[in-house]
This record gives sequence, C-alpha cells and structure tokens, in this order.
Amino acid sequence: MPLRVTVIGTGYLGVTHAACLAEFGLDVLGLDVDAGKIASLASGAVPFHEPGLADLLSRHVATGRLRFTTSFAEAGEFGDVHYLCVGTPQRWNGLGADLRYLEDAVESLAPHLRVQCLVVGKSTVPVGTAERLAARLSAHAPANGDVELAWNPEFLREGKAVADTLRPDRIVVGVRSEIAEKVLREVHAAQIDDGIPFIVTDVATAELVKVAANAFLATKVSFMNAMADLCEETGADVAALQDAIGRDGRIGPRYLHAGLGFGGGCLPKDIRALMAQADELGVSQAAAFLREVDGINMSRRTRMVALARETCGGTVLGRRIAVLGAAFKPDSDDVRDSPALSVAAQLQLQGATVSVYDPVARANAERAFPSLHYSGSAVEAAEGAHAVMHLTEWEEFRQLDPAGLDGVVARKFILDGRNALDPDRWRRAGWTYRGLGRPLTADRSPTSNATSTA
Ligand code: UDX
Repeated sequence: MPLRVTVIGTGYLGVTHAACLAEFGLDVLGLDVDAGKIASLASGAVPFHEPGLADLLSRHVATGRLRFTTSFAEAGEFGDVHYLCVGTPQRWNGLGADLRYLEDAVESLAPHLRVQCLVVGKSTVPVGTAERLAARLSAHAPANGDVELAWNPEFLREGKAVADTLRPDRIVVGVRSEIAEKVLREVHAAQIDDGIPFIVTDVATAELVKVAANAFLATKVSFMNAMADLCEETGADVAALQDAIGRDGRIGPRYLHAGLGFGGGCLPKDIRALMAQADELGVSQAAAFLREVDGINMSRRTRMVALARETCGGTVLGRRIAVLGAAFKPDSDDVRDSPALSVAAQLQLQGATVSVYDPVARANAERAFPSLHYSGSAVEAAEGAHAVMHLTEWEEFRQLDPAGLDGVVARKFILDGRNALDPDRWRRAGWTYRGLGRPLTADRSPTSNATSTA
C-alpha cells in the first residue's frame, strides 16, 4: 500500500509538492480553505503560472492519485503523513513572520487526528515554531501521543518549482524519532535511490536551514549589487567582475547577478523574519548585517528611478516610460514585492506616463497596481517612450530586436535593470544602453559571458 499523504495549503509550495508526491507514486489529498482554488485544482487547472506544473497536476488528477478537498475531517481520516504548506507572510505591523495560517491549519487538523500519523511542516518559520505546534498537536489530537511533528524545509524556486521539487540539491528533515525518519525515508525513497542527499537533523536546525539559506542567497545578491555601485563610480564593469570572481570555486558563479535586486514572496520577508527573531532572542548583532543586505536591495529600486530621471534630463515629469516586466522574476506571474512594479509606481508618482508590459503577470500586476497603464506587447508599451526600462529578464526581452522599436520610441534609450540584454546589440542599432554597474560605453565590455542568475 503506498503511503497516503495530505498537503494542507495549495499555494505554489503545496500544489507543487502534492503533484510531485503523486509523481513518486504516493496517494495524495490536497486541502485548502479556499473552495474556488480547490475546484480549479480538482479540474486539473493551476491558478498561477508555473512551467510544467499544469501537466503534472492534470496527469495525476486523471490517474486519481491526486485529489483535493476543503474538509479537514476527510484529511484527518485519509493521511499517514500530513504536510503543512500554508504561507507565512510578513506581519503587517512588523518585520516578523505572521504564523496565523499555520496555527489555524494545526488547530483545524488536530481534532481529526485519531490514529497514528506524522505531521510535517514545510512552511518557512522562525526557529521554535515547530516546538510550539507540536505541543498544540498533542493537546488537541485525540491520538495525542501517536501524533508526531517533523520539519522538512522546501527550497523550490518559482519558475523552476517542479524540477526543484523532483530533483532538489538536498532533502533536509528535522525529526524527533527514528519512526519519523523512517516514514520520511519512505516518502523520499525514489529520490534517495537517485542519490539525492538526505540530511537528518533536529527540528530546530531544519527550521533554521531554510532561513539561513535564503539569508545567504540574499547576501550574495546584495554583495554583488554593492559592487555594482562601486563599478559605476570607478568605471569598472560588474558583469566582468561577476564572471571573474564567480570562477573562484570557493565563490561559485550562481546567484551573483547584479541588477535591480531581489523581490518575491520569500527572500525579502525571510531575511526580515530572521532579523526580527534575532532581536527577540536578544542577539540582534547576529543578523544586523541583514539590515544592510535589505537596505542595499531596496536602494537598487531608487537607483533605477534615478537613472531614469538622469536619462530624461533631470526629471521624468511628463515623460513617457516603457517598463518591460512586472513579475518579480521571469517564468512567474508572481508580483509580490516586485522590483519592476516598485520602480514603475515610483516613476508614475514622479509624474511620468508609464506603460508596463509583462508576458504573463499582467492580471496580477493590474490587481496590485491598478493605476498603472498596461500594454499588450513590448512594442505597444514602447510607443512614444523617452526611455525603455528592462526590469524583469524574460527570454522574450532578451530576444527583442532593437531595430523593431525604431520609429516606435521617441528616443532610443534602453535602461537594463537586469543586466541581461546584449549592450553591443543595442548600441550597434543606435541605442544608448545603460546597465546597473556597467560602463557607459562599449570599451570595456567583458569577453566572457559565462554567467548564471540562479
Ligand atoms: C527563493 C529561493 O531561491 C528558494 O530556495 C526559496 O525556497 C524561496 O525563495 P524564489 O523567490 O522563487 O526562490 O526566486 P529566486 O530565483 O531565488 O530569485 C529571488 C530574487 O532574487 C528574484 O527577484 C531574482 O530576480 C533575484 N536574483 C536572483 C538576483 O537579483 N540575482 C541573482 O543572481 C539571483
């Protein structure tokens, strides 16, 4: 009999996890309190953009290995293992994580746990959360002593969620007993057989691994962006610098891409939650550097706006600006804390007429920033523009033919906030190209282009 698994919370993390577990042959029941979302998933439709996920989901909905419900009673009855995958956003009134959804999920599930089972947290949480949730579970579950809690952080990236879940760099499980470890080894048997490292820790370490990994990644990006500022002041080229230091095996080339910085639903809120927890624990200095990391990251957005002002002769008032990209990163329709939209909104507030184009994130962007104007194509957005700003590095924009915008724009100024376009190509077509941390002219362009963003 395959293990029967429930996945509570069907956002990015939950749906991807549920579909991938079904792919590994487990029987999976996804649960969400949002009946609309559940109806859509049950019909095989994914309510957000994630390459490859719709195929996987519809395949396993069809095999019957993946089902959905809104009933905690049904989930409690069904599962040998229950995964908690609900969101832990930033609190509205502080830097810490809002654990309300996680606590609600545990409260709702616990009374239905009548037989031995394992509850596994996957959401990103402050260290110590699992300990508190375990106490609540044993207080409220009828099978109290037979219900155990483990932690299994998730490292998936949006846009690459399916591949990251099927073939992660490592699987980390924080357990309190050999039985819990055995069950989790069974869940991940296929991946362990494939040689994917399976790291067993205590629960507190497993909680911390996720936040520590995200804090390190954020630091890497902000480090490179700080270097980009130095490059601008000195005439050095951040792209060449990134390539050269990334070839040092101790540093590595990934996650060193300078530009407009990080956004999205994870990195910004996770480093803030870590700072908040360090403050609460009385060890503020342990995470003090993250304030700089956050500050450098946010300053990228104001730097980009300043670059637009500079390009437009000191003010953007009355100027038309085309913004290419609205999602916080390519291959996603997620606009949470999107650097691109933040820049677009700031420019509009400074009097610019801004037109935004994104290949898939338009609907979400319109909901988040309804006062911005949205276009149906890059060419339409660029009509009459005094500057074209490239703010999310979709492949479509890399492929954009500068000549195709001739006669469309008012002035040929391209500001590359992601340092992802080919400066020579744009300059050859008669455009003024500006990147963040890149030289003003082509003289010092790097001869190697071995770079990777994530
Ligand atoms: C991140 C972590 O990578 C993942 O492990 C965790 O589970 C969730 O948070 P995600 O937010 O999906 O994933 O995107 P990621 O690819 O990490 O990019 C985050 C942000 O950093 C994006 O805005 C991206 O544009 C930016 N970034 C990334 C850079 O600016 N430079 C880089 O070199 C890499």
